[in-house]
Amino acid sequence: MEITIALVGFGNVGQALARLVDAKNPALRENYGLNISITGVSTGRHGCAIDSYGVDISRMLEAIEQTGSVSGMHSGKPIIDTPDFIRRVPAEIIVETMPLNPESGQPALDYLRLALHHKRHIVTANKGPVAFAYQELKSLARQHNCAFLFESTVMDGTPIFNLVRATLPLIDIQRVRGILNSTTNSILSRMETGMSFENALQEMQQAGIAETNPSYDVDGWDAAVKITILANVFMHARLTPHDVNRTGIGALTVDDVQAALRAGQVIKLVCEARYEHGAVTASVKPVALPVSDPLAQVRGTENIVSLETDMISRITISEGEAGPTATAYGCLVDIINIARGYR
Ligand SMILES: NC(=O)c1ccc[n+]([C@@H]2O[C@H](COP(=O)([O-])OP(=O)(O)OC[C@H]3O[C@@H](n4cnc5c(N)ncnc54)[C@H](OP(=O)(O)O)[C@@H]3O)[C@@H](O)[C@H]2O)c1
Repeated sequence: MEITIALVGFGNVGQALARLVDAKNPALRENYGLNISITGVSTGRHGCAIDSYGVDISRMLEAIEQTGSVSGMHSGKPIIDTPDFIRRVPAEIIVETMPLNPESGQPALDYLRLALHHKRHIVTANKGPVAFAYQELKSLARQHNCAFLFESTVMDGTPIFNLVRATLPLIDIQRVRGILNSTTNSILSRMETGMSFENALQEMQQAGIAETNPSYDVDGWDAAVKITILANVFMHARLTPHDVNRTGIGALTVDDVQAALRAGQVIKLVCEARYEHGAVTASVKPVALPVSDPLAQVRGTENIVSLETDMISRITISEGEAGPTATAYGCLVDIINIARGYR
């Protein structure tokens, strides 16, 4: 069976997904009788291309590397913009990997609405639309008999949403805690060794780990967006990132971090969502955790999430260092699930 996908966003994750599709198609055919064909790519400033027969992935990657644009791979009526692309591309699934807008989820949110109105399944690695409109996108998808999957939005490709959906039916998740932002966790790990906050942040920026706008990490925005998603998906809350009680790590000093260590504690930027007085509340704030807490063990760019439930007291899943390939893998898993009938 042929499954057609279109990539909205062709940066680190979009390109990693294209490489993964190219590398894994033989195994997909062998194991699942599936072949993924990429019928279009849309970017912000690097052009768009549609090829209803399926693009040549190596040529597409070469084009963007050598010419900085994919437009040379397009023939036919010019594509005006991404909405025009979404309307016209002959793809069953739109895979959206655009940059995060933590204040509104836009414009990606409108693009996903448009895709659903055109009866396309959607897969996204972008946290914004899920954090701001999970319930709406879910019901829109249901209305159009489409799938809406977003495994890579939290902890890259580590299967937390699939884990709960596929293996924990009827579970009641009462509390979620996690360390979900790699930049702040790495900064805090470095401050434990005596490095200043400013130098640690600079190292993260040089390594390409920190967001372009460091406030998204340091002030807890990225973490707030992620805990919003977990609260809305796992606890049926209707929060937006603006509802999260948020404190970043900018006011912490090396002395604070090292004093905590001497007291047998580790300071972490902890995300939490819990039922309180009949409603779900969420927070992101630095917390001094006892070293015995599983969340205290997570170093550098590793992430962790811990679910407290009515059936199994605690389920904890942690992720080693990740990157665009792990994120692209989460998208690939979503695509395979849709191809196998998940709605
Ligand atoms: N990198 C990771 O490991 C990782 C992990 C988890 C989640 N994510 C999430 O995945 C998403 C993608 O991350 P990334 O690292 O791949 O980002 P990126 O390298 O900045 O790529 C973003 C892509 O989106 C395109 N884009 C921007 N505006 C667009 C528009 N209006 N229409 C179509 N395309 C548009 C960009 O095109 P131009 O370059 O031409 O503007 C670029 O191709 C983000 O939301 C990120 O938070 C990433």
